[in-house]
Amino acid sequence: MSDMLVPLYKLPEHRSLLQKLSEGGIDVRRAIAPEKHKVAGWVREHFNERWADECEVAFAHIPVGCWIAVEKGELIGFACYDSTCRGFFGPTGVSEAARGKGVGKGLLLACLHAMHAEGYGYAVIGGVGPKEFYANAAGAIEIPDSTPGIYKGIL
Ligand SMILES: CC(C)(COP(=O)(O)OP(=O)(O)OC[C@H]1O[C@@H](n2cnc3c(N)ncnc32)[C@H](O)[C@@H]1OP(=O)(O)O)[C@@H](O)C(=O)NCCC(=O)NCCS
Repeated sequence: MSDMLVPLYKLPEHRSLLQKLSEGGIDVRRAIAPEKHKVAGWVREHFNERWADECEVAFAHIPVGCWIAVEKGELIGFACYDSTCRGFFGPTGVSEAARGKGVGKGLLLACLHAMHAEGYGYAVIGGVGPKEFYANAAGAIEIPDSTPGIYKGIL
């Protein structure tokens, strides 16, 4: 699993996608500190412990580096940045039932735009799974010789 690099200075516009999601009843927004236990618990339940740990770190700084997607008061997706390394995007995930509606792309672009606004020129997506998703949604390119990357030797 390699890392990917995203130039943040030429990101696609994301407001129309967030607006479309909102009109369909899905709000994509930055999480706030009192939501940490709910979000980390949901990530643990739907994905894994490691991602829940990274999520908790994203809640440990201001502004919180975790964005969430909420439908009818229920969490359906999350995305983090500045968790294991500064300047890194991830982890991210959308509940299986909510996939294919633009939620993952909305969360990704919302985080990347937030990173750009906070002063980053590039973001790294660490240990990528779906490369085409990141390439098509955000213009990410693979970083050569980036396996195993920052997770080498992880317990
Ligand atoms: C990857 C993930 C977050 C995508 O979320 P999603 O809400 O289903 O994605 P979207 O509906 O926003 O898809 C946006 C676009 O990416 C494409 N896409 C979605 N998942 C893809 C994948 N796994 N591979 C390639 N393209 C993908 C969609 O077809 C869509 O294309 P379009 O704009 O041409 O219509 C979701 O599938 C997921 O949670 N996967 C499991 C966890 C995971 O792998 N996380 C990433 C770890 S690096």
